[in-house]
Amino acid sequence: MEVYPVIDFAPAMKGMVIGGVGIVHVFLAQFAIGGGMLLFYFEWLHQSGRSPRARKLVSSYFQFLVLLSFVAGAITGVAMWLTSIAVSPRTLGLMVDEFHWIWAVEWTFFALEVVAGYTFYKIGDRLSDRDRLRLLGLYSLASWFSLFWINGILSWQLTPGGEGLWAGFFNPSFFPSLLYRTVVSMTLAALAACAVINVIEFDGGKQREQRRELIGRAALFLAPMALMPILAGWYLAVIPDDSRGWLLGGSPAMTMFVAAAAGTSLLIGAYGVFGLLRRGLYINGATALLLLALAFGATAAGEFAREGARKPFTVRGHLYANSITPAELTELRRTGSAAVDRYPLRDRESYPSDTIAEGARVFRFQCSVCHTISGANGLIHLAGSWTREQLRINIAKLQLTKPFMPPFAGTASEVESLVELVAWVRAGQPDSWSETPTDKVVLDRIAGYLDEASP
Ligand code: HEC
Repeated sequence: MEVYPVIDFAPAMKGMVIGGVGIVHVFLAQFAIGGGMLLFYFEWLHQSGRSPRARKLVSSYFQFLVLLSFVAGAITGVAMWLTSIAVSPRTLGLMVDEFHWIWAVEWTFFALEVVAGYTFYKIGDRLSDRDRLRLLGLYSLASWFSLFWINGILSWQLTPGGEGLWAGFFNPSFFPSLLYRTVVSMTLAALAACAVINVIEFDGGKQREQRRELIGRAALFLAPMALMPILAGWYLAVIPDDSRGWLLGGSPAMTMFVAAAAGTSLLIGAYGVFGLLRRGLYINGATALLLLALAFGATAAGEFAREGARKPFTVRGHLYANSITPAELTELRRTGSAAVDRYPLRDRESYPSDTIAEGARVFRFQCSVCHTISGANGLIHLAGSWTREQLRINIAKLQLTKPFMPPFAGTASEVESLVELVAWVRAGQPDSWSETPTDKVVLDRIAGYLDEASP
């Protein structure tokens, strides 16, 4: 099997690193998409004579904001590649293997987005009306299509669908997820526009009335939020049963994130649809920013839940989160996992015995993608108070201990090394350590647990 060196971010766990970058990236990129659509709409409002002041928003620093977010979106996109390579080269490898042409297509759209956006920013005010509208149209289409392509690749990870490229691309969660993200993009753009409108100085007349008119128009971009419950329900209906179970009560942490995302979206939606659209309320800059911050929270919570629901796989049914395939797992049960991972431990000398060092290697190979020893989601915090026998049972039956963990992929003696490691850390990592000699009866018992967990 392919084994890559493991990069350690302790005390943060790797999933958190990738999640943290991912959330910022998604937020910025989605704002850039919605922002493009909103610029196009406002430019059209102006040109068609529907709103003489709409151009003010297009030429104000809203335009700059959209540019900034797609530049920052691009930079965090590169950061996504780097962190993904660092955390799970195999997952990325599998995705590139399956979708290299799709990814190439995505990049051409992205390049188009960059060129169109930058051209508009640089020479937009020297262009004819028609060209301005064309350029903004091109920008929005290109940015939406880069979402379209990447969405197929990402949704495939949770619901790989049938065999073949297109069956994988147009997988069961492709459309609900694409539409949901489109609605989110429009929401972010509307809220940011409301904040910007509040600081624009309009020519003549009452400022507030002029602002109110534009806010009412930007708020139209919040209207699709009414579809969110339907799209979310659609999404939940097509994902695997166990993933849905965790999101809807099975895993308290994930359920809380779903509730947070749903609750905040409901608040924003209610304010937007009833307050701004139906009642024509005014929204000031501070409130708009507050709602935008809430939307960031909702994005973060939603992305966390989506990533969480994929466990124990990074590609459902094909690759476990710790970069082991189901077929390799069967093999590693026989041969052991520490032998496969040929990279040395960076801090070998800090472990007082070979057994503990082996435990550390097993941990690095199989557990470290989701756990640290004593930092975030630390093994010591979770299982520090367990007896040795409890540790043996629960580690050998990992997928039964928590169904979102992959099965243990090693030998009975590797389970015991891990138990020894926990015992040593629990004892305060003393410099010298007298090991309990592993006896055959214990190993046979662990082998029994391993067999019970997966026949
Ligand atoms: C795919 C991610 C993932 C992998 C890989 C993983 N775990 Fe976990 N593990 C979790 C999560 C998430 C929890 C739940 C933490 C919580 O309840 O707060 C957990 C919980 C635990 C617990 C506590 C269970 C309980 O009932 O309280 C133990 C012990 C544990 N893991 C050990 C391990 C060991 C040992 C490995 C490697 C052989 C491993 N895990 C691999 C994600 C993972």
